[in-house]
Amino acid sequence: MTAAPSAPAAAPGYDRADWASAFRNVGVELSGVSVAAARGAIPAELRGTLYRNGPGRLERGGQWVHHPFDGDGMITALRFEVGSAELRNRFVRTEGWQAEEQAGRFVYRGVFGTQKPGGPVANAFDLRLKNIANTHVVRLGDQLLALWEAAEPHALDPDTLETRGLSRLDGLLKPGEAFSAHPRFEPGHHGEPRLVTFGVKAGPTSTVRLLEFASEGPKAGKVLADSRHSFKGFAFLHDFAITPDWAVFLQNAVAFNPLPYVLGRKGAAQCLASKLGEAGEFWLVPRESGRYAGHKPLRITAPEGFVFHHLNAYDDPATAELVVDSIVYDDFPSIGPGTDFRQVDFEAIPAGQLMRCRLDLAKALAAPEGSLVPHAVAIEPLEQRTCEFAMVNPARQGLEARFAWLAVAERERGNDPLQAIEKLDLVSAERRVWSAAPRGFVSEPVMVPRPGAAAEDDGWVLCLVWNGARCASDLVILNAADLSEQAVLELPLAIPHGLHGSFVAA
Ligand SMILES: [Fe+2]
Repeated sequence: MTAAPSAPAAAPGYDRADWASAFRNVGVELSGVSVAAARGAIPAELRGTLYRNGPGRLERGGQWVHHPFDGDGMITALRFEVGSAELRNRFVRTEGWQAEEQAGRFVYRGVFGTQKPGGPVANAFDLRLKNIANTHVVRLGDQLLALWEAAEPHALDPDTLETRGLSRLDGLLKPGEAFSAHPRFEPGHHGEPRLVTFGVKAGPTSTVRLLEFASEGPKAGKVLADSRHSFKGFAFLHDFAITPDWAVFLQNAVAFNPLPYVLGRKGAAQCLASKLGEAGEFWLVPRESGRYAGHKPLRITAPEGFVFHHLNAYDDPATAELVVDSIVYDDFPSIGPGTDFRQVDFEAIPAGQLMRCRLDLAKALAAPEGSLVPHAVAIEPLEQRTCEFAMVNPARQGLEARFAWLAVAERERGNDPLQAIEKLDLVSAERRVWSAAPRGFVSEPVMVPRPGAAAEDDGWVLCLVWNGARCASDLVILNAADLSEQAVLELPLAIPHGLHGSFVAA
């Protein structure tokens, strides 16, 4: 494991068995186990808790999930205090998890294709959603929220990780209301720091609800803005980006045909398909505290491609453009009903590429309100290496950032599992890479600024790594500036490849 300027590698340098060995059930729940650094030392200034979410249960009664995204949410917490660390993990006690623990088999269908035993006959017309709380975990006020985008969050105790139950955020959400798993913490564009998020009610006409909460101090959790915006067509929105003025959505050109889902042949997400030859749309929803409050949302034709995640967005005052950096796939990467996810052919599925879109705001604002504005986006590649899970320094959320940290493949070209962390200079294009290859597989990097830091890259990058040699997880702490290894903690826990997480400073 080294930090060095990136170097090309021609052939995949990993063993599929190492990668696939992370797909397993988590069989233990640890309660505050002290973990020492196996190498290096935990920085004394790193104080706070890293929370991670992801699927922790992938098999029941001998049946595997069809896709890991159907696995029940399990939260891992690592609390750092003056050079030491304490580990805890808990499954979210969702209704589905409790029912299936008791039954010893799947009793719900999964959105990504997991079916109950018994074939289509047993699955047809069972349209209950299993809120599996497995996608992200964030702190809001005195609650820890385990998020899953199609329904309301589960509230947990931030210290013990015990599940308090489904949360409707003091009556803000209706029962079962969608609440995104991709909130953005903005650092104080309009005074106090906020959590900005959204929910989508999808249908022939879709409604996006934009919500803003105070995220710090005694008002944390208080609603500061709440607005609804309707758009024609079936909206599929996983993530978004923000600037001080706008919430930026990219509506991919996808169609949803629910019939195979209703008839018990596919999961709901498997019924999404790209509309070939059609373009997606950027939807720019004005923030209530921004300069365009009251304006109708802007609609701008998007370039081809499919996007789950954005890195960041910002206003470029020099060009009057809104800049959005996103991880773009050629097409919607789906796993068909007949495929074992552990056998997925990486070379045959689309690879994530970091792209920059410059949106001509002046042109869009001059167009008739509500109209779709074509030819208003310039696109440029930022990174050709396969990547996912990118972030900027949290203080630069919604503002122009110099640096990005992202999970990348070990090879410079070609689609492989994510095995390395890259620091990308978005101005000079200079790159540094820390690699866990050949036997390590990285998850989403979380950049944590050093308390009182002045430089944008002063801090650490925290990353859970699946260690194929140990068949367990390591927590790696890198220096954010040069990606040098500060500490490796060999956790007494095997955590399957996960999704998203966040750091809460002490
Ligand atoms: Fe995501």
